[in-house]
Amino acid sequence: MRSLRYEPELLDFSSNDYLCLNRDGSHSELLNSLICETGVESNVTVGSTGSRLIRGHWPSFENAEEEFNRWARTPDSLLFQSGYNANVGALSALTGPGDLVFCDRLCHASLLDGIRLSGAQKIYFKHNDLNHLESLLATKSTRRRKWILSESVFSMDGDVPDLKGLLDLCRRYQATLYLDEAHALGFFGSEESPGAGLLASRRAELGDDVFDHAIISAPLGKAPGVMGAFVAGDKLLKDYLINRARSFVFSTAQPPILAAMIGAIIRRFRNHEYDHRMASLRKNVSYIKSLIAELHLVSPSDSAIVPIVLGETDKCLQVSEHLKNHGMDVRAIRPPTVPEGSSRLRITIHSCHSQSELDRLMELIQPFASV
Ligand SMILES: Cc1ncc(COP(=O)(O)O)c(C=O)c1O
Repeated sequence: MRSLRYEPELLDFSSNDYLCLNRDGSHSELLNSLICETGVESNVTVGSTGSRLIRGHWPSFENAEEEFNRWARTPDSLLFQSGYNANVGALSALTGPGDLVFCDRLCHASLLDGIRLSGAQKIYFKHNDLNHLESLLATKSTRRRKWILSESVFSMDGDVPDLKGLLDLCRRYQATLYLDEAHALGFFGSEESPGAGLLASRRAELGDDVFDHAIISAPLGKAPGVMGAFVAGDKLLKDYLINRARSFVFSTAQPPILAAMIGAIIRRFRNHEYDHRMASLRKNVSYIKSLIAELHLVSPSDSAIVPIVLGETDKCLQVSEHLKNHGMDVRAIRPPTVPEGSSRLRITIHSCHSQSELDRLMELIQPFASV
């Protein structure tokens, strides 16, 4: 049985607040200033009052979409209420019976549920194994469309795919990549697009035609610290989703004040106001990875998600409990969320963790390292 826990007294090594924008009050201060600036204007209400197609459409939504397009350098985008809604709505609208959808084995449930609703055929490839993917693309044929589903940072392993390799396969086999950037926002980026995700970080090497072959989904509940998700791609995509994505059409739009907040957060990313947080996060990730390596433990991570794979479920639960007893919140992730035999401690690193907190965490894990 799963159960809900509220334990704010434990040191947070499990939330997605990678840049501490919630923990240190930065977002509360931003929200307060937005309310002071805009609260008297009638176009930034709390409730949207409807689906965006029926009176629930407000200027702050389009402003947020334009901010996102400038940040991630995408041709156009549509804002959904959450990442789950975005993936289910977009994928069930874009794919359909007869389509072949090649999914990385570790893709998030929201991507898989979107395909399930669409009636397309789902074909799994081994995690991040492009040779396996190519053998499947070469042998499975359809008269309809081919799609590849992957993530920029995988939520349980924290590793990244070979993005250029995926796009090359798309070009070679006339497939379209649907890439979920949830855990890459606020970690990967470039000087022009700070924190805007993996695709933005590799833009120069991926070619100008990247959005002829790729659609990105950008959920905002992780490092950006809010809620909502953009689905972005070529110019036609937005109109298509407005008309066909059922989670968009048949659901109340999120609060316009939240969309205003999303726009303001993106502006802060674009103005390099979060650069120091991203630098601290990367420093902390390198530091903990060095401590993990010293203990000869295994972590596949390339991001703020740093799992330690212990294998046995009982051992993971025991370590998680031990950490809790010492004031630390690290969750044990076990099957069926991860494959049998790969139970792990899923540690998320934040920009505001101190070196001594990271040292203490690993000291507490150390006795279990070789047992
Ligand atoms: C990779 C990935 N995609 C999508 C989602 C769903 O996003 P949201 O929490 O905004 O619904 C999550 C959240 O767990 C995720 O990890």
